[in-house]
Amino acid sequence: MTKSSARNIFIGGTLFFAAVFLILTYKSLSSETLSKRTHPENISDKVVWGKRIWERNACIDCHTLLGEGAYYAPELGNVIKRRGEAGVRAILKTDALQGWGTVRKMPKFNLSEKDIDGLVEFFKWVGRIDTNNWPPNEQG
Ligand code: HEC
Repeated sequence: MTKSSARNIFIGGTLFFAAVFLILTYKSLSSETLSKRTHPENISDKVVWGKRIWERNACIDCHTLLGEGAYYAPELGNVIKRRGEAGVRAILKTDALQGWGTVRKMPKFNLSEKDIDGLVEFFKWVGRIDTNNWPPNEQG
């Protein structure tokens, strides 16, 4: 191989893969793709309230949501699918110290009915985000 053909392969390859990278980035992040995946039309007042409660109580300090967060407690992006809506409500009304749970405990947050409604709607909305099946297992 001559020096100039090596240089051309290098430059051509770099340009080609840079173009592929830019196209894929655009496809992943275009507002059309994002809004299809995150279905913002379903963000109701309850979902917004639930997210506020989620943040105010720093649930992510122990839990993960779609794989992001702390690995102390279960993944919650899929919790409605795993536990059902009624199950999640029951969990949020009980604290681990009162009778459910294993070695790791969840503190009691004294959530109101409105807070629990919001959190359930928030979890439902998160559960329907198209994440290409991330996280890859139930446990997150
Ligand atoms: C100090 C750590 C901690 C914080 C903060 C925390 N949790 Fe938990 N949570 C846990 C642990 C630990 C468990 C699992 C208990 C078990 O299964 O024995 C759990 C379990 C759960 C479950 C049931 C999950 C399942 O798959 O069974 C839900 C729902 C939940 N938490 C919601 C919340 C919400 C909502 C918040 C914020 C308001 C929150 N958690 C904050 C530690 C925490």
